[in-house]
Amino acid sequence: MSNQDIREELSEIFSSIKESIVLCQELGLEIPGAKKVVKHSIEDISTLEELKDYLDGCTRCALHRDRKNLVFGEGNPNARLVFVGEGPGREEDITGRPFVGDAGRLLTRIITNGMGLRREDVYICNVVKCRPPGNRDPREEEMKECLPFLRRQLAIIRPEVICVLGRVAGKALLGQDFSITRDRGRWFQYMGVPVIPTFHPAYVLRNPQAKRPVWEDIQEVMKRLGLELKAKNG
Ligand code: URA
Repeated sequence: MSNQDIREELSEIFSSIKESIVLCQELGLEIPGAKKVVKHSIEDISTLEELKDYLDGCTRCALHRDRKNLVFGEGNPNARLVFVGEGPGREEDITGRPFVGDAGRLLTRIITNGMGLRREDVYICNVVKCRPPGNRDPREEEMKECLPFLRRQLAIIRPEVICVLGRVAGKALLGQDFSITRDRGRWFQYMGVPVIPTFHPAYVLRNPQAKRPVWEDIQEVMKRLGLELKAKNG
């Protein structure tokens, strides 16, 4: 058994002990020596740091098994604009930061060169917080477990615009009928916030002809935010 296996097994054992203590305490049973475990619902969490701590060591879905780091999200907690991707890739898993690989570098260029903002002015996160092995699409059940945390992030930040990146994140937020080719560049609502989907930067890297529509979508975002256009293309 590797150290990683032992760590995971211990983490699962501790989680299930904690769950049992919480259950006993909820039933009014005294457990000698046990500290009062405060289990609050995520609805009670009002800051991103607290939410991040709450998610620490998460074992809710199978993605925890292969992850090196949970990738919570980063940026301005008061951001007017939030980008939502599908899930961490290899470099994100290694660093614990969203969008830092090739696709991330393109997203950063869109934000800085295209929009004239700094990366730290916006907030960047994903539907699932742990890397799907081999960068496969996150599964339905994995997204279902993780979505409440994205929803809480959005409820805490309360951005003016959400830009959803790609098919998978689009479907997660806007429903199974969502089609990236048909629906990109259109305005939707999610949790009362205007949402615009655009192509995922990884797709743009593979399909340079997608640059133009992405730039058009970004201009829509800027218009909605009342920002001045700084460049002619991304
Ligand atoms: N792709 C995503 O969807 N999210 C990341 O954080 C990186 C790549």
